[in-house]
Amino acid sequence: MKGFFTGKLKEAGVVLTFQDVVLLPGLSEVEPSQVDVRTRVSRNYKLNIPFVSSPMDTVTESEMAIALAREGGLGVLHRNCPVEKQVEMAKKVKRAEATVIREVITVEPGQKVEEALRLMEQHNISGLPVVEGEKLVGILTGRDVRFARPEQKVSEVMTKQVITAKEGITIEEAIQILHAHRIEKLPIVDEQGKLRGLITFKDISLKGKYPQAARDAQGQLLCAAAISPADLERAKRLDPYVDILVTDVAHFHNRNMLEATKKLVKEVSADVVVGNIGTYEAAEDALQIEGIAGFRVGVGSGSICVTTENLGVGAPTLYATASVADALKNYGCDLPIIADGGIRNAGDIALALAAGASAVMMGNLFARCKEAPGSLMAIGGRYYKQYRGMGSPSAMAQRYAADRYSAPSKEIAEGVEGWVPYKGEVSSVVKELVAGLRAAMGYAGAKNIPELWEKAKFGYLTQVGTQETRPHDVLLPSESWGLPPYTF
Ligand code: XMP
Repeated sequence: MKGFFTGKLKEAGVVLTFQDVVLLPGLSEVEPSQVDVRTRVSRNYKLNIPFVSSPMDTVTESEMAIALAREGGLGVLHRNCPVEKQVEMAKKVKRAEATVIREVITVEPGQKVEEALRLMEQHNISGLPVVEGEKLVGILTGRDVRFARPEQKVSEVMTKQVITAKEGITIEEAIQILHAHRIEKLPIVDEQGKLRGLITFKDISLKGKYPQAARDAQGQLLCAAAISPADLERAKRLDPYVDILVTDVAHFHNRNMLEATKKLVKEVSADVVVGNIGTYEAAEDALQIEGIAGFRVGVGSGSICVTTENLGVGAPTLYATASVADALKNYGCDLPIIADGGIRNAGDIALALAAGASAVMMGNLFARCKEAPGSLMAIGGRYYKQYRGMGSPSAMAQRYAADRYSAPSKEIAEGVEGWVPYKGEVSSVVKELVAGLRAAMGYAGAKNIPELWEKAKFGYLTQVGTQETRPHDVLLPSESWGLPPYTF
């Protein structure tokens, strides 16, 4: 029979995207405020909100990763830079807060006060333990240096009677000591008096300030970084400082990538999340890699992406999530899925989770925030932030992430560059998205994410129906002012 679906086209399935479907309302026994949005982002790590920021150079550097982890999510540091810079970003996230700081910045007694001051400024800290070799011999505080001359030696002005504690001290005990002695820093020393760590009042107070933060076992903020499976060297350099390594290639379902990742997983101790993949078959092949810790899924849905437009290829995020979830279920694998690309609002987040994701990765929505590295610009009396695809010509010109796109297509841009409306701090964006997600889950009658997987029922909208799901027959203020409408 002749028709549209003839020959090869007979095999064409419908590939649904966020805008094609709705979540059907279900019997609800929870109020949105009671909905639990905690989740698992990789084999060994949990988040308090299911949000991950994209590894893009206009989205995630240390500032975004710190801010998002404090809210309970996770930042994936981009790799469009030399490895040294990416490692420095990771260290900064880990140093931002900790119960016990392990990588302590120190000075030697023979160094000059001016050098110590420079270190304090560079690392934004107010005091330094003084060590000879590894042995703690003093502490240099803000008070010690206040009236010191720059050329004086640290040993002349440091506090020599240092109050210290032993390994294993509890936070409550540390608070008591800090309080009793009116001090801000408590070095941890071993039997030989060697410096083993540092507890600071600042870190303890930050912990109280961000009770929702996503932390590792040491109380430091969780941190992830992007890598190429083919760049083992970078993965190994980052491994000591991050909890999760996320492969950052547009088409992970590629023999070379699969083989390289097999090797890589064995060489690092961090969780390795693999992607991007978009189909059932890709999940099946990725599952052959022993030791992986999760999946990053979606091909071509990103808001800055032109892969589908230019190359005619894509596995939209909703379809990719459902396909990979299906494969994992059939293979009895309970690893988390991160749905990546095309998320425009809380509704899309709810749909991605309902299709089987444990978390969503967002570039566009986080690029709008103050903590994103992109530059801020005023256009027509409104503020916008720069946002570019990692396959855009300008990002690829920076070279380091160019291999995200396969060698033959490097000549072709797979991303665009533009501006997104400025939305202020990550904390307020997260608050709004979480409120929307809770409301959506409430409608679906799910009190947590696993329950959403079970209970969610999708409805398919026709193209005409889609128009009815948006505001209609009303002149919206943004349109009447002649300004571009913006979505959120
Ligand atoms: P959103 O929709 O949040 O998507 O902006 C972010 C995701 O898009 C992917 N990404 C790209 N995809 N060309 C692409 O085809 C690009 O230049 C590009 N840059 C980023 C990436 O998965 C990111 O998380």
